[in-house]
Amino acid sequence: MADIRNEIEKRRTFAIISHPDAGKTTLTEKLLLYGGAINLAGSVKGKKTAKHAVSDWMEIEKQRGISVTSSVLQFKYNGYCINILDTPGHQDFSEDTYRTLMAADSAVMVIDASKGVEAQTIKLFKVCLLRNIPIITFINKMDRDAKSPFELLEDIENVLGISTYPMNWPIGSGKEFKGVYDRKSESVLTFTANNGQREVESKSLPLGSEELKSIIGDDFFSRLSEDIELLDVAGDGFDDGLVREGRLTPVFFGSALTNFGVEPFLEEFLTLTTPPLPRETLTGEVSPYDDCFSAFVFKIQANMNKAHRDRIAFMRICSGRFEKNMEVYHVQGDRKLRLSQPQQIMAQEREVIDEAYAGDIIGVFDPGIFSIGDTICTAKDKFRFKGIPTFAPEHFSLVLQKDTMKRKQFVKGVNQIAQEGAIQIFREPDSGMEEVIVGVVGTLQFEVLEYRLKNEYNVEIVMNSLPYQYIRWIGNDDVNVKALDLASDTKRIEDLKGKPLLLFTSEWSISWAIEHNEGLILEEFSAE
Ligand code: G4P
Repeated sequence: MADIRNEIEKRRTFAIISHPDAGKTTLTEKLLLYGGAINLAGSVKGKKTAKHAVSDWMEIEKQRGISVTSSVLQFKYNGYCINILDTPGHQDFSEDTYRTLMAADSAVMVIDASKGVEAQTIKLFKVCLLRNIPIITFINKMDRDAKSPFELLEDIENVLGISTYPMNWPIGSGKEFKGVYDRKSESVLTFTANNGQREVESKSLPLGSEELKSIIGDDFFSRLSEDIELLDVAGDGFDDGLVREGRLTPVFFGSALTNFGVEPFLEEFLTLTTPPLPRETLTGEVSPYDDCFSAFVFKIQANMNKAHRDRIAFMRICSGRFEKNMEVYHVQGDRKLRLSQPQQIMAQEREVIDEAYAGDIIGVFDPGIFSIGDTICTAKDKFRFKGIPTFAPEHFSLVLQKDTMKRKQFVKGVNQIAQEGAIQIFREPDSGMEEVIVGVVGTLQFEVLEYRLKNEYNVEIVMNSLPYQYIRWIGNDDVNVKALDLASDTKRIEDLKGKPLLLFTSEWSISWAIEHNEGLILEEFSAE
């Protein structure tokens, strides 16, 4: 047992959240370098390869048999075993991006120092808040002209509503970037620019050193002294507890591209975050050190070939140790099964693994039995992990089949694809399934839907995009939806379980609904 405890204590499982172009890929690559995973470092999916046309992308999926985007990168560093979960961004941004955060124990938020908090970061941040996980901020690209660090912190506090604690403090930016002052060691890590923007030289010097003054110059030195004083008197204090609850974010300034400040960041990150924590079930908590093995499915990836039942279910291990060929119990399916070909999906490779521990992610072949949120365990007392919320889609289309004779295939297709969690389907109250309203988080999913219905179900569809941007679940138990006083551009719909929802074209119409219907509760996430 001691071994299992040891293994689990070493684990850190986190996701990196950012707006496209802030430097998530670059930072990931550098982190991997420290883990000695040099062969992988160049293979993290870069922005350029992500710009494949949809058809290329599917071709790639077909060849590899699995999405190259669904990766977890595992590496070892200083005795830790680190799992970085990839949160698909750019055009393949989808519900999976959100769901991945359900499997993470903490998040690294990368912010572009010249831009501050951007739209996609806000969305991802909200999901992290749902779980109260620690969020550690890396303000990137300090080697370029940046906003003032005070302004950047204010931005994080005001836009995201989280307190900040700068762990280090930048001295200048862009061409004048001189380095960062580390508040704990009271020393400065100097930055020596080089034109190639490759790895830069850096040196750690105590604040009082003459060498430091000569490197950064009198002006920067006196400004730094003022800034330090200001931070010490005016800023929030450091509070471990608040960090763990996700209410205070430790902030690091650095530059991923030049590999500046990345290693100190990684070292601090590992001490700021915890090993896997207990997870909530419907009947209490399960400790990661529990004897039983347990996991939940947070993502299902269908192959892009015609044998569409060949899917991979990604599971986050929540307790105990997993061994190949272990017999487990699938709670929702109410049956025993053997997970015979567990895989660990690395950047572009997958390998069969023999064992894995709480905190790790495994991918197993799914013959079509798993759904998002399902629990797998070996416990004698079966339990269920709390479900994964349904996230609000932001793009909607009315979808109908071209050939009405193919109604059966159409219904089966959209239902199965929705069950995998790639799309959400809704309909107008009292209507049949001749046409459905499809909601997605990222628009690429519409193309995936069209492609898969055609190739796997032999159904051609017509899609008409709808002007709605916001969907809200109605939180009240008894509400007469027909009687609600709504703006004329608000649409009443329901999900397949008959739960009522509202579609809005603007935030203004959401406010209208709330103002004109006393007590109406509108929710952005649906609990299960
Ligand atoms: P993403 O995954 O968050 O979308 O961002 P990515 O790492 O792909 O970085 C986006 C762009 O920003 C890349 O440039 C990358 O080289 C650059 N970048 C990342 N970190 C830093 C940094 O610390 N300093 C500077 N100056 N640039 C940085 P690109 O020209 O768009 O792509 P590429 O040609 O480098 O691949």
